[in-house]
Amino acid sequence: MTDNRVTFGSKLGVILATVGCAVGLGNIWRFPYMVGVNGGAAFLLVYIICILLLGIPVMITEFFIGRHSRKNAAGAFKKMAPGTKWSFIGYNGVLGAFLILGFYSVVAGWTLEYLVQGLDGSLAGKTADEFKMDFEQFSSGIVRPIGWTAAFIALTHLIIISGVKAGIERASKIMMPLLFLILVVLCLRSVTLPDAGEGLVFLFKPDFSKITSSVVLSAMGQAFFSLSIGMGCLITYSSYFKKETKLQATALQVTVLDTLVAVLAGVMIFPAVFSFGIAPTAGPELVFITLPNVFEQLPFARIWSTGFFLLLALAALTSTISLHEVSTAYVHEEYNLSRQKAAWFVSGGVLILGVLSSLSFGVLKEFTIGGLNFFDALDYLTAKIMLPLGGMLICIFVGTRVDRKVLKAELTNEGTIPFHFFNTYAFFMKYIAPFAIGLIFLNELGLINKLSRLF
Ligand code: TRP
Repeated sequence: MTDNRVTFGSKLGVILATVGCAVGLGNIWRFPYMVGVNGGAAFLLVYIICILLLGIPVMITEFFIGRHSRKNAAGAFKKMAPGTKWSFIGYNGVLGAFLILGFYSVVAGWTLEYLVQGLDGSLAGKTADEFKMDFEQFSSGIVRPIGWTAAFIALTHLIIISGVKAGIERASKIMMPLLFLILVVLCLRSVTLPDAGEGLVFLFKPDFSKITSSVVLSAMGQAFFSLSIGMGCLITYSSYFKKETKLQATALQVTVLDTLVAVLAGVMIFPAVFSFGIAPTAGPELVFITLPNVFEQLPFARIWSTGFFLLLALAALTSTISLHEVSTAYVHEEYNLSRQKAAWFVSGGVLILGVLSSLSFGVLKEFTIGGLNFFDALDYLTAKIMLPLGGMLICIFVGTRVDRKVLKAELTNEGTIPFHFFNTYAFFMKYIAPFAIGLIFLNELGLINKLSRLF
């Protein structure tokens, strides 16, 4: 009986669980390093355009599918379009969430290492170069990074099998505001460092010549990654929403908060990057070599670093839970396995991916797929291909297969709340989002160039 499906406890619970899913390493770790390697402010600009034009419509559409079907990501499409190939979107999502979790849990593991280092004071008194060297030595190792990855997966597993509601909802209520507060304080410290201005210019003053097709593809991938869209995560979560939950308002709130945290993370990182002479193009390690420098500049350095990495670990945890939940709900509901057994399958598989991803910073460095190591290959495949593809297909599905009246009824809670921009939304969802994503893909594949030469 779908009517018995569990739902989140309260309105605040819905927002916090969904914000918890969206806000994570994507905002504080991935976003700054993407800005760094993609030329700074130009990337930020394209990113914000992607959020507005693609992110919000896709998020609302996922909420529609989830709450309307009240099923896991794959089950939703089977229910709404039985016997068709549309369930591919669901499988793409379940697989994608699983693959993301594979490399995400490695970085989540790093946050635990830094949390411990912050606690025992071993981050103290080092120079910028030493932070960089130490990070490289740690991440290229075997036992410690893999141990932390496994620990993080175990933590996620525990929460998943004990049924998340009360714990996650309650923890999020304290953690999310605290994370925000710490971010703001660190931003203030960062912008008052010597030469901070250079970092702000890098982040906010766009150099339009930097906008290339690969920057656009990266920005779109980042927008999808950060908002947790394109992968059935929000379909799964919104299947637990109540019928009173306001879908568009929730989408808007989640998007604004998520973007705010990302921009604040940029303000926290870039002034420090320039002030300490670190290369903004450092890549995945950027946050881990920049922030300890900032903490060193503060009184009570140990408290700041411990607090920060604790919150980062917790923000990562609310996201790993959401990723794990996509696959677990799928295995549990579609194969009639108990939740426990389903979770074991997922955790075991993720651990294998996690070990390979972790080793790709060390002994497996030379093992590349299309020029990328295993970690980067998983990241590329999911963020730049599977997420946008999922988002595009979700829009095409709802745009072509769902009756407008059904869509409108769900999004207005059966006509009880207004949706002033419904037509604009429907237009963007049906025409703009799929074509924009399609064009970006074609452009990246070099096809547009070839075509334009023909004419
Ligand atoms: N959005 C999360 C972050 O920024 C990561 C995440 C959680 C995610 N669930 C997802 C990314 C689903 C893509 C799809 O850290």
